[in-house]
Amino acid sequence: MRTETPIPIRLADYRPSDHLIDRVALDISLDAHATRVTATLSLRPNPAGRAGADLVLDGEDLTLLSFERDGVALAPDAYTVTDTALILRYPPAEPFTLTIRTQVDPSANTRLMGLYRSNGVYCTQCEADGFRRITYFLDRPDVMAVYTTRIEADREEAPVLLGNGNPIEAGDAGPGRHFAVWHDPHPKPAYLFALVGGRLDRLGGRFTTRDGREVDLGIFVEPGKAERAAYALDAVIRSMAWDETAFGRIYDLDVFNVVAVSDFNMGAMENKGLNIFNDRYVLASPETATDADYAAIEAIIAHEYFHNWSGNRVTCRDWFQLCLKEGLTVFRDQEFSSDMRSRAVHRIGEVRTLRARQFPEDTGPLAHPVRPQQYAEINNFYTATVYEKGAEIVRMLRTLLGPDVFARGMDRYFSECDGTAATVEDFLAAFAAVSGLDLTAFARWYERPGTPVVTVEGEHQAAAGTYTLRFRQDLPSALAQGLGRQPGQEADATPPLVIPVALGLVGPEGVLREAVSDRVHDGVFVLERASDTITFTGVPVAPVASLFRGFSAPVRVAAVATDADRLVLLAHDTDPFNRWQAAQDVAMARLVADARGVDRPMDNAGFVAALATFLDREALSDPAFAALVLTVPSEGDIANTLGQSIDPDAIHRARTDLRRSLGRGLFERLTRLREALADPAGSRFSPDAASAGRRALRNVALDLIAGADPQAGLALAAAQFDAATTMTDRLAALSALALIPGPTRESALSAFAERFAHEPLVLDKWFAIQATIPEADTLDRVRRLQAHPAFAMTNPNRVRSLVGSFSAGNPTQFNRADGAGYDFLAETVIALDPTNPQIAAKLLTGFGSWRMLEPGRQAKAAQSLAAIGARPGLSRDVSDIVGRMQN
Ligand code: ARG
Ligand code: ZN
Repeated sequence: MRTETPIPIRLADYRPSDHLIDRVALDISLDAHATRVTATLSLRPNPAGRAGADLVLDGEDLTLLSFERDGVALAPDAYTVTDTALILRYPPAEPFTLTIRTQVDPSANTRLMGLYRSNGVYCTQCEADGFRRITYFLDRPDVMAVYTTRIEADREEAPVLLGNGNPIEAGDAGPGRHFAVWHDPHPKPAYLFALVGGRLDRLGGRFTTRDGREVDLGIFVEPGKAERAAYALDAVIRSMAWDETAFGRIYDLDVFNVVAVSDFNMGAMENKGLNIFNDRYVLASPETATDADYAAIEAIIAHEYFHNWSGNRVTCRDWFQLCLKEGLTVFRDQEFSSDMRSRAVHRIGEVRTLRARQFPEDTGPLAHPVRPQQYAEINNFYTATVYEKGAEIVRMLRTLLGPDVFARGMDRYFSECDGTAATVEDFLAAFAAVSGLDLTAFARWYERPGTPVVTVEGEHQAAAGTYTLRFRQDLPSALAQGLGRQPGQEADATPPLVIPVALGLVGPEGVLREAVSDRVHDGVFVLERASDTITFTGVPVAPVASLFRGFSAPVRVAAVATDADRLVLLAHDTDPFNRWQAAQDVAMARLVADARGVDRPMDNAGFVAALATFLDREALSDPAFAALVLTVPSEGDIANTLGQSIDPDAIHRARTDLRRSLGRGLFERLTRLREALADPAGSRFSPDAASAGRRALRNVALDLIAGADPQAGLALAAAQFDAATTMTDRLAALSALALIPGPTRESALSAFAERFAHEPLVLDKWFAIQATIPEADTLDRVRRLQAHPAFAMTNPNRVRSLVGSFSAGNPTQFNRADGAGYDFLAETVIALDPTNPQIAAKLLTGFGSWRMLEPGRQAKAAQSLAAIGARPGLSRDVSDIVGRMQN
């Protein structure tokens, strides 16, 4: 059977549901192969729907055991069962009750959607459309109901039984069985339903809300691992307190539980009162987790907790509005992390992620608006564009309105939309109401795919003491974005975006505070037209413009600047983001020239001298920031800057050259810095940002030293590897060793595997390091590792760390000129698709930038994509991606 092209669902076709469900009573009797579900649904016709329409309940992979209406079994000719639905014809015009008994097999559920077992633990994942794999239902977010859930299970197998809301009853249920009843008073869509049953240890805590509610907190983990949940619990408590002060959002149940499971398709899920997490975002100890892991745990715990308001109390009307909860919640978790850590350092991290993940997506065949207009498979839209660019839109709104008006708009949104399934329009309406502004033009950010380019030219008028900045915005043509626009259709025929430009002027001695323009308010100029010009007065000397401070808009900036200009910003700007950006730009100019193969390499002496001065002044006072300034742009960054006809080998060589050159130029300083930043003997590990910053700078120094002198690097890294007391230091040492072929590397890899043989999350790091070695035999190594006993195609974390790291984190080897890397990814996607299509589709996005490659590699990638596309019986997930990729 040849896969049908999936029929897209369109935003324009949205209609309210013909029926509503007010109450749901579930009785779920857990069994490894035959779980029985009795669902009692209180339904009524929706006054906003079509009167007399058939009731179409969604369902997937269910066995229907019985079906009653108002307590009476329905005659078989009163309903129809299909592969995807249970259809009741001529439903009553009055409220009625349906009782539906179904059976599912959680052990056979390899898709990890609906009810499944992970390491013997029963758990659920219902977003976006997994609830229909538990029972027949109106599985759409605008149908919100109050749920009561009785869970029954074998007492030995599942001593812990958790549901949404508050626990109201528990007890015996016959020989060897027990039950628990949970009630969630807050109406919610089915995608927020969850249950857990298993043998789990609990780390408990308490939180008292601002309005006096005592909340019982529980983090549930694999037996014996409760200690490793301490940081997650602490992050929950800090998130709850922060949301009260920063957004005035208070928790609304008596319990809040987090459960860590080892097989999970994504990071975590915000089910009401019962967040379910991929265990890698819960479990941490100094020996097993890096500083980056601690930061990710803090951010994701916060993210899921914040969803309680931005997502749960106010949910989405339909899946086109996904950014309404995800973009907003990412913005909220970024703000939280910025308050917990260094705001400047965190901002740089956010932008690096956006550029690494969202910019390529927005430039390639998978580009889509932050609010898509159509989808074939919604699970393919949990993207960097929806999440990260979605967060940038919220941040721009705050920049445009100012923090106070923004805060009033947020309050208004939460109070107006509480208990509803809302839209992006509802969100913007709250801000329009409090500001009195018309946000119609701003709303284009949600509709327009592609990364805008803002071109800026500056001119100093010495005699007048003025400085002029000319701005122009362009949305790269849809044709270049693979969206099929016809040649000749003007890119600038589209109305312009509203772009906040945070900016200032900097002179050789520092920021020019006397420079003013009547177009700049609180440091922000708003570019609303296709082009515009502003003039500053009070500019006696030729300045350097510091543009898009703090990355005030998700755009690419095209401005002519010299090294000297950039080094002025690095030395004197008050905006730390642009100081970092300036150093990156100097590095990038060299990398791009080198990768393009210019005849004469650029001289690095001035850059090295500026970095030396910077390090002498600031390295010890802000090591985390210094570590970022010293980090050479990634191969992905360089590819994105080059934009087309990419040769990954040339990029790799260019980056290796610059690393070597900087490492040589700064060698003595870096060596001294490593010593100055060493932990005092006997000091205890702390995951706080300051301590992490010292480790980060030490390890960037190690990387540059090894880049300059592999033999010196080998000795230092081997010593650090053996002596390390934290995973951060051990892994940094192993990463340095991984780049230096030879027996030292291989024996370190073996030692690591042996030491952490029983730590799957640590072995993920070991898989990833090996998958990213930029050497010709890495593909063979990856194939060998697929047969390693710790690897399993059924576990998404393993697949991501080995195969995902290879395709997304090893540009030279994935993009081997012979196409073997592409063949390997295609094989893996095809092998995984029948069991876990969501992860298969995610892996497939590793081809996302294939049109940027030089022609030879493009042809190879096209062959692999065609091979996937030609397979019969592909999942909707994979055929959607492969289809869009080939467009
Ligand atoms: N809502 C979850 C979160 O961002 C993610 C769910 C992802 N679901 C999916 N089908 N990919 O916190
Ligand atoms: Zn989310």
